[in-house]
Amino acid sequence: MCGITGYIGGNKTTDILIDGLKRLEYRGYDSCGIAVIDARNSLYLRRVSGRVGALDKLVAAEPVKGARIGIGHTRWATHGVPSEDNAHPHTDCASQLVVVHNGIIENYLELKEQLLFAGHKFKSETDTEVIAHLLEEKLKTLHVQEKAVRSDMLEPVFFEAFRRMLADIKGSFALSVIWARCPHMLLAARMYSPLVVGLGKGENFIASDVSAFLKHTKRVVFLNDGEMAAVKEDGVDFYTFQGKKISKDCVTIQWDSTMAEKGGYKHFMLKEIHEQAEAVENTLRGRLLPLGGDILRREIGLSADAMRSFSGVQFIACGTAYHACLVGRVLFENFGVPASADIASEFTDRAGLLSDKTLVVAISQSGETADTLFAVREARASGAKVLAITNTVGSTLTREADYVLHTHCGPEIGVASTKAFMGQLAAIYLLAGHFAAARRLLLETDARSYAENLLKMPRLIEEILEQEKEIAKVAQGFASSEHFLFISRHINYPIALEGALKIKEISYVHAEGYPAGEMKHGPIAIIYAGMPLLAVAPSGRALELMAGNVEEAKARGAEVVAIVDSASKKVIKASRYITLPLADELFTPMLTVIPLQIFAYHVALAKKCDIDKPRNLAKSVTVR
Ligand code: AGP
Repeated sequence: MCGITGYIGGNKTTDILIDGLKRLEYRGYDSCGIAVIDARNSLYLRRVSGRVGALDKLVAAEPVKGARIGIGHTRWATHGVPSEDNAHPHTDCASQLVVVHNGIIENYLELKEQLLFAGHKFKSETDTEVIAHLLEEKLKTLHVQEKAVRSDMLEPVFFEAFRRMLADIKGSFALSVIWARCPHMLLAARMYSPLVVGLGKGENFIASDVSAFLKHTKRVVFLNDGEMAAVKEDGVDFYTFQGKKISKDCVTIQWDSTMAEKGGYKHFMLKEIHEQAEAVENTLRGRLLPLGGDILRREIGLSADAMRSFSGVQFIACGTAYHACLVGRVLFENFGVPASADIASEFTDRAGLLSDKTLVVAISQSGETADTLFAVREARASGAKVLAITNTVGSTLTREADYVLHTHCGPEIGVASTKAFMGQLAAIYLLAGHFAAARRLLLETDARSYAENLLKMPRLIEEILEQEKEIAKVAQGFASSEHFLFISRHINYPIALEGALKIKEISYVHAEGYPAGEMKHGPIAIIYAGMPLLAVAPSGRALELMAGNVEEAKARGAEVVAIVDSASKKVIKASRYITLPLADELFTPMLTVIPLQIFAYHVALAKKCDIDKPRNLAKSVTVR
């Protein structure tokens, strides 16, 4: 998601922080900032909405003297629009404490309420700012007022307040704080969001990924969840959140900086494929239980009453996001909620048929897709309410929608969408679960098992990702094929479409996704001996029919790769299999899509295509 840099040591602090931020730019961001403590122990804070280049100019225009400690951040908005006020670092009321943070503080609303009650003044809309104020509060309870604490006690007091603050926050975070009264120590902590310490000579670093400081040191220590670091010029101590000192292994990084940007993966697309378990966790975090309760009202203003009031749901989107819509349609219909899904650019006339009884769900990774925005405007003109599912806070779509459900996947750099699609699926399952429970279509036990199934997904996704090598081998066998067919049924039919789209986008070969039952009504004519056909066939009600469709394709010479689980493998007769963990059929799209993404990636790799920037495509399509 966002990027963190931190430094303590020599007197080139601002240069080192800004250089680190530049090296994190590849992650995507909308605003940035640094904070350092100068020679007179005053806080110097500079932030901009926009690029690190602008921050660099701002700092160069008003250079700071004698700073030996500081933190920096590139922000990808999750709470609050991209703006200078919402950019990190964030300060406490006295502007003595300053914090940078990646991740999401789940209980920030609750904490903010308590802190406001205690008299704290907030300057941003972010979840992060509560950390600075909470820490200020913890210092107060440790009786830290001007001159009340001996200078040699400031470090242990700062450390203890930090530890107590960590005990109160929930969610995912990598964070770092500095305190103007204690300029010889930087504190950092990790819970579900990466953080790494770089060990130098007479200087030390922290960052959300090693590329930020690789130029200065290759000796690093990776923090685990629940661990914190006290970083000083002459050394770093590591602790658990309970304050127990621990020893950690130092590793020497062999990557160059380009490799480091991609976390050691060859392409952003592959890195993003591997981030999908995390994408699901981030999208679901703190929003699932209890289904049908008050959660969506509190977060996005969508009450259970409102969910009961709609007569149906209309999905609209383009490309990959449209495939997520198709899964949504089946899911809502499965619960008995009337739903339809349309490609945004084909939606115009249907918009006129909507009323305020329809909830339009517009899905867009970028939130800037012109076709989707146009369709949303038409829908609103007919009186429909619009719920946006997007990965981009502050995007045009978020400003035009009535309700906004962010997917919190972090920026997606590869043009071919993978983890953003996974986040969209997670958001749709979340929404469908709340809808069904609010309308009493999903009663208590079923609601519990629905939520459990969803919560299992990240683990199952990880299991599939471990099979990358085997899937790559299958893909390499088809590197010279010029046509591909993808077939499936029901809730996995959209996944067949998505598999075909992925291979088209990055390998430039012809591929079609088809509903398996429709093949015999025409498309079966194109099958020739040796044509690769990927059949998405997990266990479930479509299985017997899928088995028949696979036989029909094989009889015409198709080379079938079956995406199965251990049970459906016994029913589908194919020449090659990719076997997934067993799961309830309703949830399988979140699993079956992964081998197809990996397959497409490895076909493109074997063809030496420009995977992250495929020809003729743009990440955000802002024309109609
Ligand atoms: C996906 O791999 C594509 N690059 C494309 O189909 C994309 O999903 C589509 O253009 C919609 O984009 P959006 O999600 O930003 O609206």
